Amino acid sequence: QVGRVYDTARVLDFDLESIPSRQDHETVLLVSPQYFDVRYHINPYMGGEVDGTAATEQWETLQEAYEEYASRVLVFDPDEVWASLSTERKTLPPEGLPDMVFCANHGVATPDGDGVVLAAMSNAERVDEPTYFGAWCQENGYRTMSLAPGTRFEGGGDAIWHPGRELLWGGYGIRSDKRAYDEIADRLGVRVVTLELTDENYYHLDVCFAPLDEETVLIQSEAFTDEGLATIHALFETVIDAPVDESTGGLACNLHSVDGERVIMSRGNPKTAALLEAHGYETTAVCTDEFQKAGGSVRCLTLSLGDGSRPGYLNGR
Ligand code: ARG
Repeated sequence: QVGRVYDTARVLDFDLESIPSRQDHETVLLVSPQYFDVRYHINPYMGGEVDGTAATEQWETLQEAYEEYASRVLVFDPDEVWASLSTERKTLPPEGLPDMVFCANHGVATPDGDGVVLAAMSNAERVDEPTYFGAWCQENGYRTMSLAPGTRFEGGGDAIWHPGRELLWGGYGIRSDKRAYDEIADRLGVRVVTLELTDENYYHLDVCFAPLDEETVLIQSEAFTDEGLATIHALFETVIDAPVDESTGGLACNLHSVDGERVIMSRGNPKTAALLEAHGYETTAVCTDEFQKAGGSVRCLTLSLGDGSRPGYLNGR
């Protein structure tokens, strides 16, 4: 049943092995952090004074870690995109968008990796961000698709591909609407398994759910309903539960398993790191303290893309 949304383990009518395999997206996108700041509060973690110099250093260390592990790292500079926007598309300048650095929320790659489903942000403070990302995609050969007007969808923050399979996990209830996944399943012809989020501490799926490889996922079980947990257990052989204190205190689940073996995660989560190492993963911890003042860490700061090999496919260029 392609193009279908599954919202509970009770209706799963497939085995993971029967799902078409999917090449994992190997390009990692980062947004340069010159305007990063905390100036409003849209999640419970936001607060404190940002040290801009420290934030830039931390972001550069993250970029270096990716350069070592990912096959391609791209950086989008909001100033360059702003300069390239036509007058009618110029709404808010990048200095007015302090969360733009969290590009996970800008969209999610299509399964073939050459396109992107653009986000529609839930909070007024961030609604102008996807305009920048859409323009960047056009410039860089990624086709873009937008959802029906009025549907909220926060990209890779809530929509996470199952490693190696054409199966999308979709978090909804806080920042994204469930109907976003009906449209994605239908238009992309993929299966989507939805997970309801109700606890503001886990306001995006990527702060409580981190697939490590096809069989293994790290979660914070407190974030999910009983149905959600049963669904996760039905599709992953091994479910590792992160300690609660590190899940909230250090955004421990907001990590990136780059190739199914090496994990980039936030520093300051020794119990989670030890759990991952006991399961055979190699961990690299980077300090993301400044970004955690906005409620984001490693995974939020990146977006996985394919190679964009069919430029302008949807844009008619
Ligand atoms: N301050 C940002 C927000 O609340 C942080 C986004 C973090 N992104 C993520 N994928 N969890 O929207």
